[in-house]
Amino acid sequence: MKRTATIVGQGYVGLPLAQAAVEAGWQVYGLDVTASLVEALNSGTSHVDDLSDADVATMIEQGYRATTDAAVVAESDVVVICVPTPLSDSGGPDLKAVRQSSTSVGAHLKPSTVVILESTTYPGTTEDVLIPILESQSGLTAGQDFDVAFSPERINPGDPVYGVKNTPKLVGGISDHSTQAAVGFYSDFVDEVVPVSGPKEAEMAKLLENTFRHVNIALVNEMSKFAHDMGIDIWEVIRGASTKPFGFMAFTPGPGVGGHCIPIDPNYLAHHVQKELGYPFRFVELAQEINNSMPEYVVHRSADILNEQERSVKGSRILVLGVTYKPDIADQRESPAVAVAERLLARGAQLSYHDPYVKSWHLADRTLRSVTDLDTALAEADLVVLLQAHRAYDLASIEARSAVLFDTRGKSEGIRL
Ligand SMILES: NC(=O)c1ccc[n+]([C@@H]2O[C@H](COP(=O)([O-])OP(=O)(O)OC[C@H]3O[C@@H](n4cnc5c(N)ncnc54)[C@H](O)[C@@H]3O)[C@@H](O)[C@H]2O)c1
Repeated sequence: MKRTATIVGQGYVGLPLAQAAVEAGWQVYGLDVTASLVEALNSGTSHVDDLSDADVATMIEQGYRATTDAAVVAESDVVVICVPTPLSDSGGPDLKAVRQSSTSVGAHLKPSTVVILESTTYPGTTEDVLIPILESQSGLTAGQDFDVAFSPERINPGDPVYGVKNTPKLVGGISDHSTQAAVGFYSDFVDEVVPVSGPKEAEMAKLLENTFRHVNIALVNEMSKFAHDMGIDIWEVIRGASTKPFGFMAFTPGPGVGGHCIPIDPNYLAHHVQKELGYPFRFVELAQEINNSMPEYVVHRSADILNEQERSVKGSRILVLGVTYKPDIADQRESPAVAVAERLLARGAQLSYHDPYVKSWHLADRTLRSVTDLDTALAEADLVVLLQAHRAYDLASIEARSAVLFDTRGKSEGIRL
């Protein structure tokens, strides 16, 4: 008989996980609170960049079904929670979705089920938030009646090389039995599953990974500013340093950080350290300050470039290329392109944008539509600012057709950040 898994939250993380499990022979329920999404998935429509409609149709043939009914938890051997963990209005962790989903999972939990939390969060969430809710809702005892583990999600949307199968998966259970139970589940479709000693270690490993990236991006962003002032090409500096085969990893400057992870997750840790221990996590605060300064820096450099052409930002036709937070996907979450655009508009620019993945773009007080005729838009712009270097862009040709190209990604021969 097929074993059954319920994946709670069918977004960027939950849907690819559901695909991997159903492909490996599991009966999979995709549990989500968004009824329209559940309906779309059951009719074979994907909303995630990494999966096509045909992929979802195949999943359905293999035994996948999306649902809003948490009663499926009672039929499940494994339940994996992949719900969003955004920041609250005050900048702290917002665990509303984790609490809500734990409550509905707990209400239907049966003995012997393995419950795994994947949402990125501060160390202690599995033991201090998830388990008490599951126990009070079910009347069962964690570690005795059911297993619990934390396994951080490492999905990298749009990555053509690393997916669910070949990205090693960390697992930290509340007991050896829980760890082994979760390792057993993932081993069905992940090449390498790595146990760590407990949930807190697994929770914090994810935050170390993201903070490492945040801090190193901030380091090159800060260096790029003074390299420019010193007349040094930061891209050549990075290319040179990258030839060292040990002890160096290349990060590149850009217009700021975006996405669901880098601008958000390190704050979970910083907030928790401050709350629990009363002192700041200074690297995160500094990285945040520097990375958040980049949109303004891009605007400042754009103004300087226009000045060289004897123009001001006010009244200039500025075309922005690429508004997503990473290349080759449609995900706009926390994209720094919004901060750049709003600052340019505030200074009176006549702004337009092009992005092959984003047909309409919502800013604070208006919605823009992507230019459809890129050739004409390039020819008409006083300044073209490349914010995201999608592979679809032929940058040599774009540069040749632009009055001036300001390339914030260092991918062309134009004026670079
Ligand atoms: N997207 C990424 O690249 C990425 C990478 C690593 C880790 N993560 C982490 O994974 C977690 C999920 O992120 P995501 O990008 O998949 O989010 P998402 O917004 O794409 O999807 C989350 C889904 O959960 C559903 N949901 C919300 N509350 C729910 C509830 N109470 N019960 C059931 N479903 C509920 C939403 O309707 C949505 O469909 C977050 O903690 C995130 O930080 C994301």
